[in-house]
Amino acid sequence: QINEAEVVLFSVPSYACQRRTTLDNHNVTLTDALSLLAENAELSDEDGRGVAFRRAAAVLKALPAPVTAMSQLTGLPCLGDHSLRVIKDILENEASDEVESTKQSDRFKALKVLTGIFGVGSKTADRWIRDGIHNLHQLQESGATLNRAQQAGLEHYNDLNQQVTKAEADAITEIVQEAVVSVLPGAQVVLTGGFRRGKQTGHDVDFLITHPEEGREVGLMPKVVFWLESQGFLLYQKTTRNSYLEVKDGPGRPSSNMDRFERCLSIFKLAKKEERGIKVTVNTVKTRDSWRAVRVDLVVSPISQFAFALLGWTGSKLFERELRRWAGHEKAMSLSSHALYDNKQSRYLRAASEEEIFAHLGLEYIPPSERNA
Ligand code: CTP
Ligand code: MN
Ligand code: MN
Ligand code: MN
Repeated sequence: QINEAEVVLFSVPSYACQRRTTLDNHNVTLTDALSLLAENAELSDEDGRGVAFRRAAAVLKALPAPVTAMSQLTGLPCLGDHSLRVIKDILENEASDEVESTKQSDRFKALKVLTGIFGVGSKTADRWIRDGIHNLHQLQESGATLNRAQQAGLEHYNDLNQQVTKAEADAITEIVQEAVVSVLPGAQVVLTGGFRRGKQTGHDVDFLITHPEEGREVGLMPKVVFWLESQGFLLYQKTTRNSYLEVKDGPGRPSSNMDRFERCLSIFKLAKKEERGIKVTVNTVKTRDSWRAVRVDLVVSPISQFAFALLGWTGSKLFERELRRWAGHEKAMSLSSHALYDNKQSRYLRAASEEEIFAHLGLEYIPPSERNA
């Protein structure tokens, strides 16, 4: 019998962007279980269910101590019946049958393997599974047509499914910095994504590039890519040009959460630690076991949009989603990686820093290391 007075009751605000979520997660077993169900839902094109599980997991990530009894969860936001049932099963039986059977299911395993190929999304994977393709061997035998990204993804499958370390991210930062200052002195490179949030590993390395003088960043991406390519650092790249200013009357009201910056999705050829010289300007590695492939995302932003781009590309994905939901539902504002629009005043709100954006949104500032929702 538990004495009610001794049960630690938790309390958290309902939007993830109102909470401080560090990497110090006291409920890993529970959040792993809910994240797996979220992933399964997303891979099955059930985004609504996916978000519900992601929100539930994020609430547990924000708790200051492990959950030991269901009674502690009373009054917590975002915990629906389904999530509560999963948590209860784990607290009582150490595992959830639903999570275990999902993990073991042929369909989930095949979806994981196939979407583990860079360039393959859940729709493509689903189509292949319906054609009887469940693994890489069957894919190669099938004669299915692969686009350029998927070919590169398949070729570097093992490397790209191995986590990138902070040391590797730092080595890539040096290369990208060298490339950027070589083609445009004064331009700035910032590490974003999970590594900016303090993660020690990631699935890729994300960079935001800008120049302190508005307009100087125009045309930068192709030059950076050309430099990297000619120095032998790129195994694959696809650059998408900026389309934000192409809207007829200047920047349109942010409508979708897809941003329209000039961006480059790439695969780097990174020398292994022993092979990395002091000089980064030329990639001299030759033999296959002296380098590995690493996914790298590059984004170029004009300085006027930099704070929004930095906030938008730092993540986590759920934190970003919650910021936009907060802006829309609580403040009648539209937030994107380009701008913040106030629907009541019918005008854009300027910001030169992330702090100013949080202030516009009426939110306490949350530093990157506490955006790990
Ligand atoms: N992002 C985006 N548009 C995309 C892809 C990503 O705005 N098409 C943003 C995400 O919202 C996130 C950031 O870029 O804020 C980083 O995304 P990603 O690299 O996928 O995630 P990380 O948080 O860096 O996690 P990981 O360590 O696994 O890379
Ligand atoms: Mn703690
Ligand atoms: Mn990332
Ligand atoms: Mn990324």
